[in-house]
Amino acid sequence: MDPKIASEVDDLLRGMTLDEKLAQLGAYFFFDTYWNKHSATTAAERIAYIQSVTAAEMIPAAGLGFVSTQLRDLPARAAAEKANENQRHILAHTRSRIPVVVHDEGVHGLIGNGATCFPSALGMAASWDVELMESVAHAIGREARTRGIRQLLSPTLNLGRDPRCGRTEETYGEDPHLASRFGVAFVRGVQGERVICTPKHFVANFEGDGGRDSTATQFSERFLREVLFPPFEAVVKEAGALSLMAAYNALDGTPCSGNRWLLTDVLRGEWGFEGYVVSDYHSVIHQWELHKTAATMGEAATKSLEAGLEVELPRHRCYDEPLRAELAAGRIAPEVIDEATRRVLHVKKKMGIFEDRVADPDEAERVSNCAEHRALAREMARRSLVLLRNERDVLPLEGIRSLAIIGPNADAIEVGDYSWDLYDKDHVVTPLAGVRAAAGTSIRIEVAPGCGIADGDRGGIPAACDAARRSDAAVVFVGNSVKLTGEARDCTSLDLPGVQAELIEAVAATGKPVIVVVITSSVHTIGRWIDKTAAVLHAWYPGEEGGNAIADVLFGKVSPSGRLPITIPRTVGQCPVYYYHKPSGRGNTYGNLGQDGGIQFPFGFGLGYTTFVYTDLVFDRDRLPAGCDLRVRCTITNAGKRAGSEVVQLYLADLLASVTRPLKELKAFLRVALEPGESRVVEFVLPAEAFSMLDARLVRRIEPGAFEVMVGASCEDIRLRGTVDVT
Ligand code: BGC
Repeated sequence: MDPKIASEVDDLLRGMTLDEKLAQLGAYFFFDTYWNKHSATTAAERIAYIQSVTAAEMIPAAGLGFVSTQLRDLPARAAAEKANENQRHILAHTRSRIPVVVHDEGVHGLIGNGATCFPSALGMAASWDVELMESVAHAIGREARTRGIRQLLSPTLNLGRDPRCGRTEETYGEDPHLASRFGVAFVRGVQGERVICTPKHFVANFEGDGGRDSTATQFSERFLREVLFPPFEAVVKEAGALSLMAAYNALDGTPCSGNRWLLTDVLRGEWGFEGYVVSDYHSVIHQWELHKTAATMGEAATKSLEAGLEVELPRHRCYDEPLRAELAAGRIAPEVIDEATRRVLHVKKKMGIFEDRVADPDEAERVSNCAEHRALAREMARRSLVLLRNERDVLPLEGIRSLAIIGPNADAIEVGDYSWDLYDKDHVVTPLAGVRAAAGTSIRIEVAPGCGIADGDRGGIPAACDAARRSDAAVVFVGNSVKLTGEARDCTSLDLPGVQAELIEAVAATGKPVIVVVITSSVHTIGRWIDKTAAVLHAWYPGEEGGNAIADVLFGKVSPSGRLPITIPRTVGQCPVYYYHKPSGRGNTYGNLGQDGGIQFPFGFGLGYTTFVYTDLVFDRDRLPAGCDLRVRCTITNAGKRAGSEVVQLYLADLLASVTRPLKELKAFLRVALEPGESRVVEFVLPAEAFSMLDARLVRRIEPGAFEVMVGASCEDIRLRGTVDVT
């Protein structure tokens, strides 16, 4: 801890009463009575309700640590004004005058009326563009801060290893390294705007049996340390994340929200975390209500606080009267409360919230969904689009005079979960709107939805086929809806819902070139129909500029350059599936799973409108003393006729080790933009730790021996290989 801040916090703490301390460890849950009615009310009613609740009603004389989701319904200016009302009340009517922190969600844009909506997190990961992610995160942080929101319950650092999990769209995909790089970029960007980040859900929240989120897990410590911890460890150590959310699930019998090993020994002891841990909403009380590991709410409070969980969300329950009773009975030491309060105050000070607690409503209005943020949303969407198939270079569409725009997602606003889907959506560009704007008057557009997302009604399919017959090509926008997947909506099938596959097949049977654009939460099983199509573009939920970005790619304004951050399985039965598995006793590999063949598309895969050639792999040394970095260089050439970007991926395999090691692991990647015919030498610096592993006793070390370095365009498309001996 910064010594100056630490001494200021100690001074503050000395003067605080128990009530004032407890006030810092919980929140006012704005929607407590209102949440369930939320979707049933109009925007005007919601706004009126929020405006009717005064700061005096929310904030007791002892102060208040946090407010859960107060401001999301309000337009930017009104949000900033309301937030200021809270802070002014605190200054005028509380003794401790500690600023309150209002939090909200921001996994792909602030949840806030009129805020910028970026592609889903999984879509952003498909850009493999960490710098752009950091710029997007700055924009998200700026929109939050200017509205008076000083904490975001984001990013989501669980892995997308099983796409049956409804929340896969919130992840950065299956790979610990990719998720770490995106997590670090997100936290740096948001905290760079003086908004506290709360990476979540620590830990193993989406990775349970059958892709069911929050299910009890019993993973080995090795698996946790090798696969699930790294993104969390990276945001703590590299980005200085100032908060973290404990997960709903239990871990090997102990709920994460009462798990001292996790929240104290590992997080603080090993990684040096200096922030505060919040519960997931209601996860403290869940120990009593659901997990049955606490006999009373008071015991749940004690377990969580002693484990190292400082803040109960979404509101004071266990950390209120039940905790006071525990204190009175001597079942929890007052020092535990002091320490928890100290951590909260430290973060509020460190983020500058004491000095800078008043938002500027003019700035809030100016920044919200401004032209700069919209441009970022479009650029991120462009880079997130993954071209999976492009037979006979049907894309980009050139020289066509008519186009049939088909499918349930053609004119739909699907921006995914954890966005502002309850609000006015005027600023979302649908695919149809994007295509129309790009096509102008030179291409005749005919629209025929064909079917709904999941309604099973085949009645519109003949009209869609007729539209295709009258056109030079058909673009079929299929996919999913936030109504079907997202939090608490895990699934058992990855097929396109409803009769969408039939729609694709029927349109393809017209003989016209069919381009399928998949707008969806994560991935689908597409083997049934993909061979019948001319092209497939995987668009995730592409955010508010998605329609324009898709049109940019369809018409060749930009070459697609997204790469899969997650495997597309051939059948749902292959799940969970991820490329970095360890050797199998049957010799099965990722490319040949022994179940229905291999996967459909591998991690890292994506086509463009040009081709790249990889040559001249060189290492700065062939023998690498343990503890030294390795420099790896190669040359990438754009061998096609169009400009484009390649995502160059470096995988490492430990060829002999004292414990089994993954077949390969992503260790580095970079994007390189090249004009036709242009070549560039790219260099990776592989840090010494990239060669380290956990031995049989879980001690991290570098074992001497040979490592294979693989550079390629996906985990299965390795173009260059070399071996280095670690000595
Ligand atoms: C989710 C969290 C989220 C919280 C508040 C919970 O159900 O698991 O990710 O931050 O709700 O929205």
